Amino acid sequence: MKAVRIGIIGLGNMGRFHADYLLGKQVPRCELTAVSDALPANLERFRQLKTFTNSHDLIHSGEVDAVIIATPHFLHTTIGIEALERGLHVLVEKPISVHKADCERLLGAHRQAGQVFAAMFQMRTDPRFKKIKHLIASGELGEIARVNWIITDWFRTNAYFASGGWRATWKGEGGGVLLNQCPHNLDLLQWFCGQPVAVRGFCQLGRYHPIEVEDQVTAYLEFANGATGVFVTSTGEAPGTNRLEIAGDKGRLVFECGKLLFTRNEKPMRQFCAESGGGFARPDVWQVEIPADGAGPKHTEITRNFIDAILDGAPLIAPAAEGMNSVELANAMLYSSLIGETVALPLDGAAYEKRLNQLIAGSTMKKPEVQVVAEDFTKSFH
Ligand SMILES: NC(=O)c1ccc[n+]([C@@H]2O[C@H](COP(=O)([O-])OP(=O)(O)OC[C@H]3O[C@@H](n4cnc5c(N)ncnc54)[C@H](O)[C@@H]3O)[C@@H](O)[C@H]2O)c1
Repeated sequence: MKAVRIGIIGLGNMGRFHADYLLGKQVPRCELTAVSDALPANLERFRQLKTFTNSHDLIHSGEVDAVIIATPHFLHTTIGIEALERGLHVLVEKPISVHKADCERLLGAHRQAGQVFAAMFQMRTDPRFKKIKHLIASGELGEIARVNWIITDWFRTNAYFASGGWRATWKGEGGGVLLNQCPHNLDLLQWFCGQPVAVRGFCQLGRYHPIEVEDQVTAYLEFANGATGVFVTSTGEAPGTNRLEIAGDKGRLVFECGKLLFTRNEKPMRQFCAESGGGFARPDVWQVEIPADGAGPKHTEITRNFIDAILDGAPLIAPAAEGMNSVELANAMLYSSLIGETVALPLDGAAYEKRLNQLIAGSTMKKPEVQVVAEDFTKSFH
């Protein structure tokens, strides 16, 4: 195969963004050959390609080797399973599914050797987050003791939530800020620190917006080694904060205002604690400002890596299988809040699915109609 023939399923904000950089030839060795959207009007600008109003027809058309799925989240599971069973390579948008049981169904359809299944976690390509990952994986930070992420600058207006019938409903989206804005943060959190073993979530439903799902969350996390974490997020707070702090035995990493600062302990804190004769002594430190910026291709890098994996067997930056962790974390925060108890991980996916289905069945929310002005969708990226 010289060039991978790609189809995009779902041509809303995100699907059009993928289409534009593929048509702009920003990813070598692939060609956008087909697109699908349930709304015929969304296909108009792509008349030079094969167009389909039904994803099934695109998947079985013989026109594509691979698909990018950029539909509302629930459809990631059903469309993803169909594409995988057809033998196509799949790049699925985040979150890979809405809940853990669906993730397992989706991942279970990935059975063919050599078939590439990746997830669009483009924040893993951000040089600052790559650096954090490296500092932890290489042992520079030492054993993790604590992680805090206050990520409350996902501000969204009522008009945003009214802009798509599926948004911010149990039935259409299966959750709020945890499912829509935070999958990247939750993915990075587990990429850096591993998956917690217990979660206690406090989710406020529709605190700031006329929606039925969570728009404000505080969650407490516990890890197997005793490390603790706090994750705070909101779509209603302005100006909001984005501060990630990870304390390890050998120092503390702080990512805030786009800058990464590493305060290193000259002696690891546990060793110092055990060896120091002075009761109020503390390890000397030195400050390292890590010179990495957030510039870079991000989405195109994930898609390029997807193509490299198909053509050359390159290792994936974000295998879809790892996408289940962020879904499980989001589910655990919501489930814990709904039942008012700490939940142990691995989460009981069937129990959560049952609870979510009850919320869907009991939903009485009617979304208000709001006129939404056209604006630059890329402003939504962090
Ligand atoms: N990686 C990122 O940075 C990023 C950013 C935004 C959104 N997303 C993800 O992309 C997905 C789509 O989000 P969006 O903001 O583009 O939503 P959107 O509502 O703008 O677009 C969804 C599109 O899917 C189409 N669609 C619905 N059902 C379909 C079907 N059965 N077959 C084909 N098309 C269908 C709709 O008509 C619509 O055009 C979501 O899962 C979201 O989480 C990812």
